[in-house]
Order: sequence, then structure tokens, then C-alpha cells
Amino acid sequence: MNMNIQINDKTIAVREGETLIETACRTGFNIPSLCYARDAVHKSSCMVCAVKDCKTGQMIPSCTAVPVEGMQIDTESHDVVMTRTLSLELLLSDHRADCEAPCTLVCPHGLDIERAIYYYDENRLEEAFRLIAAAFPLPELKCTACKVPCEKVCRRGTVDKPVAIRALIEEICEKYPPLPAPENHENRKADKASFLSRVGRFTETEKKRLKETVTTRSRCLHCACAGKKGCKLRMYAGEAGIKRSRYDASSALPAMSRQEIGSGLWFEPAKCIKCGLCVYNSDNGFTFKDRGFVMQIVLPPENRANINSRLAELCPTGAIYS
Ligand code: SF4
Ligand code: SF4
Ligand code: SF4
Ligand code: FES
Repeated sequence: MNMNIQINDKTIAVREGETLIETACRTGFNIPSLCYARDAVHKSSCMVCAVKDCKTGQMIPSCTAVPVEGMQIDTESHDVVMTRTLSLELLLSDHRADCEAPCTLVCPHGLDIERAIYYYDENRLEEAFRLIAAAFPLPELKCTACKVPCEKVCRRGTVDKPVAIRALIEEICEKYPPLPAPENHENRKADKASFLSRVGRFTETEKKRLKETVTTRSRCLHCACAGKKGCKLRMYAGEAGIKRSRYDASSALPAMSRQEIGSGLWFEPAKCIKCGLCVYNSDNGFTFKDRGFVMQIVLPPENRANINSRLAELCPTGAIYS
């Protein structure tokens, strides 16, 4: 059966079995989505894919809405964009959006401090040094000439005392022979144009626990979000021009609580937006716990054998990463 719908000003032939988002994306319209992934089981929850049904005036989730003959869909008006932005803000209101480490955000040379220290912790000296060399193309530009704002904002300082960042960077440089300055040097700068990290504060209990448990040789907490590279939430928030959510509640979930879950994956509950993709697409793996505001996504230890590495791709945020 042939069926046509109208998307914005264009008449589109619908293919059998398609949802609205699939028809729209196939024909060149760009609709964001978080709780939807192609060829995966999903249920609408985020409303980031909202479009307007012009006949009823209602906003509908295009990831589950099925096209109906003669439908007129608006994907780009101000109303639609504002509905999506509001949905993103609501998600961010309960999210530990510490995408970038504070030290990296303030470094005047754009050095990815957290990553350099991470490489150092892992004995990956060459990679650590290459990061530093890229930020300081001229040897005289090293941390020695800097006012060290990174140590002033270091989150470890709220737990006991800041990480000795300058000393660590110099230590790395001493262990490595100088490299020639990279061609086309570009001061990286933390991704400030994107959604600006909110940097969740530690509760007193978290501070206590971190004091007892963080024992890496550099003492760095590795504050940046490990899954930020593929995070759609951050990307859409940046595109929507959101700097801070208007509804700025603190996340109830503990910061930096990361679990290794097998298949080379990690899970960080504070970065979860409860979209359910991991639940619907892992047999007896992830599951919902509780209901309403306190609902959480959990992975019982006995279910870890059922985790497949595709979940890192499906997860729209940095909650599951490899
Ligand atoms: S704990 Fe590490 S990542 Fe966090 S601010 Fe301090 S140096 Fe940066
Ligand atoms: S999950 Fe995304 S939005 Fe959240 S902290 Fe990580 S990068 Fe930022
Ligand atoms: S862990 Fe990721 S995929 Fe699972 S519910 Fe949370 S955000 Fe969605
Ligand atoms: S992507 Fe459609 S409701 Fe989340």
C-alpha cells in the first residue's frame, strides 16, 4: 500500500514498517534522538525526537509514532526546537554533567591534564608526553611560566589537597627526551563551545569514601567523563546552545562510581539518563530498579555474563563505555 505524508514542505512516500523518525532521516531530515537506536529495541522516554503533528497541534515522539496517510509533520519550527531543548534541559537537571575535568577547562594551554595524568598512571609515558608536547610547542612555554590555575580548581582539593599537577607534568617531561614541535600545532582548549560541564560537587560521604579509596600514584580522581567522546546528550546540548540547565538540581547518584562490567565495558550510573536501551537490548543483563524519581538502572553481579559490547554503542551518554 502506497502512503504519502508531508514533512515540512515536502511530500514523502512512506515505506512499510517505518516509524516517523526513520522516514524523516531516510529522506534527509535531521531529527535528534537519545532513547532510540536503529535496529534496537526501544521505548520512547526522552522526547528529544519530538515533532509536531500539524493537524492536531500535538508534539509526538517520532521514534515510535507511525506515519498515517495525509499526516503533516513539522520537524523544524521554533515550537519543535523549544520542546526538544526543554527535554534536554530536564534530562540535564538530574545529570552529573562533569564532561571535562576542571583542571583541563582552566589550563591556558589547553592541555588535557586529566588524560596526561591517566597515561602516566598507566605507564603510557610516550602518549602522556605527546599530549604535553602538543600543548607546549615551544619548550619555554612549560608549566613553570604558568600561574597554575589547574591546581586551584582541582577536585581532589575538596577531598584532601590538590593533585600536584605542575610537578607531575614536569616529571613526565623529565622522563622523556624532547620531541620536535608538531607541525600545524593547534592549542586544543577544552571543548568549551560545547555544553559547559557543571562539575558535580562531592557530598561529605563521597569525600570520605574518595579519601579512603583513591590510591592511584598521582592521586588524580580522573574527573573527566570517560565516555564523553560518543555522548549524544552532550552533543545535542551543545547544538541547542544549552550552557546550564534551568532546572539545576544535583544528581542523587554518587560521583565517580564506576564498575567494570565485563566484555571490556564500564558502567557509570551517574551518567545514565534511564533511556532503557541497555535493558531492552541485553537479555537478563541490565534492569530497572524501583520506580518514579528514584528509579535506577542497575546491573546485578550475577547478570554480568550477559553483557555484549554493543551496549557501549547503544548507550547515548557516557554511562556505558569501553
Ligand atoms: S583530580 Fe585530576 S582530573 Fe580532577 S581536577 Fe584534579 S588533576 Fe584534574
Ligand atoms: S555523559 Fe555526556 S553529558 Fe554526561 S558528563 Fe559524560 S559527556 Fe557530559
Ligand atoms: S546506561 Fe545508557 S543505555 Fe542504559 S539506560 Fe542508562 S543511558 Fe540508557
Ligand atoms: S528518541 Fe524518541 S522519545 Fe527518545
